[in-house]
Amino acid sequence: MKVVILKDATEVAKYGAAIFVKQIKRKPSSVLGLATGSTPVAMYEELISAYKNKDVSFSEVKSFNLDEYLGIADDHPQSYRSFMNKELFDHVDIDKSNTEVPPGDAENPIEACDIYERKIFDCGGIDIQLLGIGRNAHIGFNEPSSSLGSRTRVKTLTQETIDDNARFFAKDEFQPHLAITMGIGTILESKTVVLLATGENKAQAIVDTVQGPVTAHCPASALQLHRDAIVIIDEAAASLLKNKDFFKKMEQENMRLEESLGNKRIV
Ligand code: PGA
Repeated sequence: MKVVILKDATEVAKYGAAIFVKQIKRKPSSVLGLATGSTPVAMYEELISAYKNKDVSFSEVKSFNLDEYLGIADDHPQSYRSFMNKELFDHVDIDKSNTEVPPGDAENPIEACDIYERKIFDCGGIDIQLLGIGRNAHIGFNEPSSSLGSRTRVKTLTQETIDDNARFFAKDEFQPHLAITMGIGTILESKTVVLLATGENKAQAIVDTVQGPVTAHCPASALQLHRDAIVIIDEAAASLLKNKDFFKKMEQENMRLEESLGNKRIV
């Protein structure tokens, strides 16, 4: 697991976006795994700027989102489909018919999960998966106790997640307690995984993910088993890590190596 510790949320967004831009330039028809939540928004802004500066085109890109609330339709303002349109898709040249978000209003959600898995498989799998992390270390809506081998399925949200997300819903508005989410096994099959976390309230989840045992009680710890997982965090989210100096040294060594190979650095 590569851990990159940066000064602040702006650097985290730039670093994450640069990885995605590099991936799309290398393979214009990349299959992206995308995430919602507050953390990816700044990275999406960077991607929009890169598109506007003609640095990257999304015209051949396909995407799969991690999750969607169950019980709300695509056009609901709080749906993750609406979020993706607003924060990214409406501002770049992606063909929306190439973008997939699990159907929150599926008549048969169980069957819809299997169809979602098949669609990912039929596209040749996800090249690069973006993740945020919950305070309880969930990835997607894989809450603690999720099987490390899980596939796309319906999950019950913990009260902590419901409370954390209540800020997006009006007081008397229906807030879903269930969601469709890619499984941890699905996420682990992505060729590269990029997890972004910022702020002190993520510090415990990050230390459990990076230093703790691999356990279903800390879903993000499964990334320790991935061959190409990059955890990009700011100083606040890194504040509880024991071996911060080592991670910083490792990043400097990687930087030197890349520069010696003629690669331009990200930040
Ligand atoms: P946040 O959510 O980026 O809004 O903190 C992350 C998550 O729950 O995955």
